[in-house]
Order: sequence, then C-alpha cells, then structure tokens
Amino acid sequence: MADLQGERDPQPAGGLSRRGLLGLAAGIGAAGLAVGAGAGTAAGVAVGRSREAATGARAYAFFGTHQAGITTPVQDHLHFAAFDMMARTSSDDLVELLQDWTYAAARMSRGLEVSATGAVGGSPDAPPDDTGEALDLPANGLTITIGFGPTLFQTDAGEDRYGIASRRPTALQTLPAFLGDDLDPLSSGGDLFVQACADDPQVAVHAVRNLSRIAFGRARLRWSQLGFGKTSKTTADQATPRNLFGYKDGTANILADDTAALTDHVWVADADEPAWMAGGSYLVARKIAMIIETWDRLRLSEQDRTIGRDKGEGAPLSGGTEQTAPDFTAASATASPAIDARSHVRLAHPDFNDGTRILRRGYNYVDGNTNLGRLDAGLFFLSYQRSPDQFVRLQKALSTDLMAEYVRHVGSGVWAVPPGAEAGSYIGAGLFV
Ligand code: HEM
Repeated sequence: MADLQGERDPQPAGGLSRRGLLGLAAGIGAAGLAVGAGAGTAAGVAVGRSREAATGARAYAFFGTHQAGITTPVQDHLHFAAFDMMARTSSDDLVELLQDWTYAAARMSRGLEVSATGAVGGSPDAPPDDTGEALDLPANGLTITIGFGPTLFQTDAGEDRYGIASRRPTALQTLPAFLGDDLDPLSSGGDLFVQACADDPQVAVHAVRNLSRIAFGRARLRWSQLGFGKTSKTTADQATPRNLFGYKDGTANILADDTAALTDHVWVADADEPAWMAGGSYLVARKIAMIIETWDRLRLSEQDRTIGRDKGEGAPLSGGTEQTAPDFTAASATASPAIDARSHVRLAHPDFNDGTRILRRGYNYVDGNTNLGRLDAGLFFLSYQRSPDQFVRLQKALSTDLMAEYVRHVGSGVWAVPPGAEAGSYIGAGLFV
C-alpha cells in the first residue's frame, strides 16, 4: 500500500497540452505522461491511502497490465460517456488526446486535480485547468476505462480518417440487430468511450466533465449515462447488489480472482488478433429500459419464474441457497422443470451456450420520468468479454426469454478496450507503433 496522502505530484505545472483548454500547441510528451509512476501497482490493486478507513480514501492504480474498471471491485456510481472525433482532426490529434486523457485520468484516479495548477492554482486571468467540484473529495475508488469504437477505425461511409483501418480488430463490428431492439442513435455508438466508476457520484461526473473539456476541439460528447447503483459484483466479498426488478444481480458473474475464467472469457489473448489488443477486452453497453410498472403488477411467483431464481435469497428455483448451482432438470412441487425453460437464468447459462461467459458490470439508472408519468428507469448493461461474439451469442438466446416482455433495449455500443498502459506511456499506444 502506498501512502498517496504524502505523495507529491511529480509533474511540472502545465503538463497537459489541451490546445483547446490551455491554448498550447505541443503534446505533453513523455515527461507529462510519467504521472502515477510512483503508484506503480497493477491496475485493480488498491493503493489506498494509509488511513484506509477514511471515507472515500480508496484509490486504484491507473497504470497496469489491464485497464482498471473491469475486474476492479464494482463501485457504487457510474458516469459513462461516448465521444465522436471532430471533423478535420488528424491521427496526431487522436494520439495527443489519448495522451492528455491518460495524464488527467491517472491524476484523477489518485484523487488529484487534472493538472498541477488545477482549479485555483493558475493565473486569475485564465480559466482554471480543473473545474473544481471534486476539490475536497478524495479518489473514492475512481477508475477510468477508455476504448475505441468501430467508427474510429472506419466511418460508416468507409472513411479511414486516421490511417488505422487496417489495424482494426476483425471482432470489432457494430452489433447486429436483435429481436425487439428499439435503439435510439442518441444513446448508441461513438468513436471513443470513457467509463468512470467511483463510490461518490460527484467524483465520477467530475472525471467525465473534465475529460470532455480536455477533448475540446478534438472530440465531442455524443451521449452519456449516469448509473446510481451497481447491478453486479466482481469480488466474492462484495454483497450481491439488486437491480430495479428487485432481484440479486451478479450471483454467477466472473470474479476478479478467477484467473482461469478471466483468461478464457475476458482478456484478449496473445494468440488473438490484433497483437496490440493482447491484454485488452471488448466492452458492450446496452441501455435497457425496464417496464417496471408492468413488472410491479406481476405475481411474485411469476417474477421468480421469469428470472429463474427466487427474489429473497436469489437461489435457483431448483433449490438451495444463492450460490447453489442451478439444476435445470429438477422438478418442484409446482413446476416441472422447476427452472422454466424460458427463464432468464436458463437461457443465459453457459450450459446452453457452448460454455459462453461474460463479465457483467452494469448499473441501475433512472432518467427522470416519461411523459406518461412513469419512471424512465432501467439497467445500463455493461459487459466485458474477450470477443463481442460472446455477447451476441447470449443476447440472441435472451431475446425470446420471459423477461423480454418487461425490457426494451434502447441504446447500444461496442468498443475495443486496449490493455492497460505502462507508466510513461498512454492508453492505446500499441495501436500507433
Ligand atoms: C434489464 C436487463 C437484465 C436484467 C434485469 C438481468 C437480471 C439478471 C439476474 C437477476 C440474473 C441472476 C443472477 C446472476 O447470476 O447475476 C442474471 C443472470 C445473468 N444474466 Fe442477466 N439481466 C439482464 C440483461 C442481461 C443481458 C442483456 C445479458 C447478456 C446478453 C445478460 C446475461 C446474464 C448472464 C450471463 C447471467 C448469468 C447466468 C448464469 O450463469 O446463471 N443479462 N441476470
């Protein structure tokens, strides 16, 4: 454990280029990227301050083999954002943006401001580097995860804006249309994504706000999503959280200490193509509206049948407790089989999908209300997998499950998530060598 409280910022003032923000022309260069080298632990390993008990003191290293925010214990809050590169930007602009995001993200992950001068340490005659709303807040377990959409490599019109079309992973294709999709382009796609997760919502929002400010003149926000409660867990010591249907979610998820499952199902292997993605992953985001008013009128037994688990304990309907493996052949006093063949758990289970598994990391959301006076609520589904094909396989199976009647997929995106950066380098560097 490093004591970050005593750590000094190793960077000179004005390390960021951020032409739009600071009016500078040059990139930050290797010196500017050295931030965080002192933390030096693998992503996902807590480097919390010595006073670990202090609220919000937990900090995760930004640099490491894999990006943070995938197997990291799921934090309570999410701000997710998709960006599009702006017209007439060059590959130099893209590289510089990724360097600047790396620099600022590494600092914010340690509870620091985006630059050494920050919100109040710069010239009174210039806008501050940092917007300031996280000034009094520690890191709160902030992780920032960054990745590349299919359109970054080639636009829908076939344009190779940055000379990287030939380096696009074959697996990175816009997702196919699924039965029942009702996608809004304003909650779908994007050249780049930023996932900020933290135990304080203001810390997550501060991260996305400042990264979009840093992107000024190069990339602009396409859409963003707040999530207020995790619907998954990635470590055994986390209590299983509940989604807005009231069910425990994340019971059968891939956990951070299951190295074999992570190797098989989550991390891109050295033998997979392209080489620059080794140690990375693929993210699928689905904004799934939940028709909770209809759901709330369902009998409890029908709700249980739809999921395939009971609401209180989260146990499979074949019996036992939450962690008991489901028995899809067992009968109960009222049903045979006890777990309905069209239940969510049965159709998503690896036994019926050639062993396919994914790492789920979604969040509950409520975006105010609809014009019918109903909560505009749902689950912002996020899953990490070695190939998007894993998600496609499961979603095809689930599009006719009993739950399909109570959900509507309204947003969608898929991104390649490069491996973590080494201190001194930047996220995605392997794509440009
Ligand atoms: C609003 C949408 C959804 C809700 C409310 C929901 C809810 C649940 C619940 C309650 C469970 C059982 C507990 C657990 O193991 O986590 C579960 C399991 C699972 N869900 Fe979902 N889910 C949703 C969407 C999806 C989607 C879109 C996928 C993938 C395409 C998916 C894949 C899975 C998988 C793989 C499991 C574990 C199955 C097993 O191995 O037992 N879910 N989900």
